[in-house]
Amino acid sequence: MTILVTGAAGFVGNNVIDKLVAQGRSVRAMVRNLEKAQMRLGEYGDKVEIVQGDVTQRDSLLPHIQGVTAIVHTVAISMEKGGQTYEKVNYQGTVNLVDVAIDGGVSRFINISQNGADSSLPYRFLASKGKAQDYVAASNLKWTALRPSAIFGTQDEFFNTFARLVRLTPLIFPLIGGGKAEFQPVSVLDVAEATIRSLDDDSTIGKTLGLGGLEVLTLGEIEKRVIQALNTRRIMIPTPVWLLRPAVFIMEKTLRGSPVSSSLLDLLAVPNRVEDNALVNIFGIEPIPFRGEHIAYLKNASAGQALKKFFTGATVN
Ligand SMILES: NC(=O)c1ccc[n+]([C@@H]2O[C@H](COP(=O)([O-])OP(=O)(O)OC[C@H]3O[C@@H](n4cnc5c(N)ncnc54)[C@H](OP(=O)(O)O)[C@@H]3O)[C@@H](O)[C@H]2O)c1
Repeated sequence: MTILVTGAAGFVGNNVIDKLVAQGRSVRAMVRNLEKAQMRLGEYGDKVEIVQGDVTQRDSLLPHIQGVTAIVHTVAISMEKGGQTYEKVNYQGTVNLVDVAIDGGVSRFINISQNGADSSLPYRFLASKGKAQDYVAASNLKWTALRPSAIFGTQDEFFNTFARLVRLTPLIFPLIGGGKAEFQPVSVLDVAEATIRSLDDDSTIGKTLGLGGLEVLTLGEIEKRVIQALNTRRIMIPTPVWLLRPAVFIMEKTLRGSPVSSSLLDLLAVPNRVEDNALVNIFGIEPIPFRGEHIAYLKNASAGQALKKFFTGATVN
């Protein structure tokens, strides 16, 4: 009854592992980078079997399927780097895993998708995630697709990046795109809990379920809460997205760990609110709010951490 979690050293994967271990389940954690795995999963010792695999290399996945009854697939990239493209990792990587799962006789498959993912969209990231889910849905696996809005938690990249940028910019901070883009920030603890519950709930098979937090927040409100969490103040300067594009382009080309990419800026045009929130309506979870003690971890963001991340691309949280 082993559960294989892909992307296990990542933010969501790591939190899913944590819940599975707490339930005493047999867990196989597939990671790409063993050093990062040690940092994120070392504390579990022999409670977690760590294996190395790359979803773009189909053959590297085959040995990890043996004895597995269910897969939680979290691997995806939000920023392309070198040969790691949305097409190769998000789409083809999912195709490889689904094919290997079918060949290996695994039937249950939880796909961590993305709110707004849709293969017909002109936005390459969301399209790749949509195309991947289309492939999962067309298979004969017993699949469930979970589609979270922006996820917050200690190791998140999205909100921590704002916090790090605040640390680097004294006095003023850009109100990106006028701060109007909408999000429904959802806690990683809630996303992991919904994932575990769906594993055990056959009524979720064949369903695509949106996961959102307690409130729909504008980017402006999110920026305000991040700044408050850091116990500081900034003058917010409305900054149109077109004005940020040249700077983002240069960062993408020059930094190993650019905090943002042009294709992620595109996403600000797509409202990231969850119309039918399965977190509450299906899983009966009371969402953890994006405020107060729940975002106090942002205080740990530092300018040094920001520079290390931007220039080396290293995992800093
Ligand atoms: N974070 C959010 O706000 C959010 C919101 C909605 C949906 N999601 C979805 O949630 C899932 C997990 O996201 P996350 O935030 O946990 O991302 P993450 O922290 O970047 O984790 C993704 C993991 O995938 C691994 N990976 C990347 N390329 C790989 C490859 N070729 N083969 C094997 N593993 C590979 C990464 O390993 P390395 O560290 O070695 O690169 C990383 O550990 C994704 O499907 C994402 O679309 C996330």
